[in-house]
Amino acid sequence: MANTRSRVWSVAGLLAAATLSSGLVTGAAEAAGSGIAATAAPPIVGGEPAKITDHPWVVFLTDTQGNQFCGGTVAKANKVITAAHCVDGDEPEGVKVVAGRESKQSTDGTVADVTGIWVHPQYQDANTGSDVAVLTLGQDLPQQPLAVATKDDTTLYEAGTMASVYGWGNTAEGGQASDTLQKADVPLTSDADCQEAYPQYKADAMVCAGFAEGGVDSCQGDSGGPLVVEDKLVGIVSTGTGCARPNAPGIYTRVATYHDDVQQQLDS
Ligand code: ARG
Repeated sequence: MANTRSRVWSVAGLLAAATLSSGLVTGAAEAAGSGIAATAAPPIVGGEPAKITDHPWVVFLTDTQGNQFCGGTVAKANKVITAAHCVDGDEPEGVKVVAGRESKQSTDGTVADVTGIWVHPQYQDANTGSDVAVLTLGQDLPQQPLAVATKDDTTLYEAGTMASVYGWGNTAEGGQASDTLQKADVPLTSDADCQEAYPQYKADAMVCAGFAEGGVDSCQGDSGGPLVVEDKLVGIVSTGTGCARPNAPGIYTRVATYHDDVQQQLDS
């Protein structure tokens, strides 16, 4: 195990160096700055900066100070889907939704108030499933909403299907959050592979995505954000062991399972 780990980490080092030399210094510089040398866990390797105009439905959540803490998806003009663990116990006044803003440094787009927070009634913690919440906004957003996977969308969940995940979260395990929107492509895993990585895996409540060799993943701060297949929301960034580790794919809320509950919230 230790051997496998250090071999993978040295590959990560090479990737970090390649990242540096290709001019995308942010992730590697942050990793170095946080005391995690380039030989530590990789940032969202294989990920890339994404344009908010190409993915207008991706939003981030902030506290009242403007600190980003999670992601989300516009599913209707005044409704945002996120993870339950992002907002459980929060008052609507304490959460803002930022739409149409690619860089946290900019003032582009809209900062919307939240007027209601619905957390799935079965939610306890990310490890037991039902990690889904719907925010009602105080205004309609102009952003194009993303369609939500339904119970009929089982083919979207086939193992090996490539999915895209979006967020402003950490670019390295234990590292710092990204200033700009990032996108990464990861394959959905089989139930068996996810079950093997995570004893708590529940196939009806969750879906895993990631390469067996690791290297590409969502991370802290990406939670609540979208996992997308064929222009449909199939997953919500939920949890996982570390970030981008081998044989530890990211765990996502299986959206299709919760479609009817969510749709009811979108219609309310
Ligand atoms: N729980 C984290 C959050 O709140 C997301 C972790 C995702 N981890 C992963 N390995 N994909 O931001």
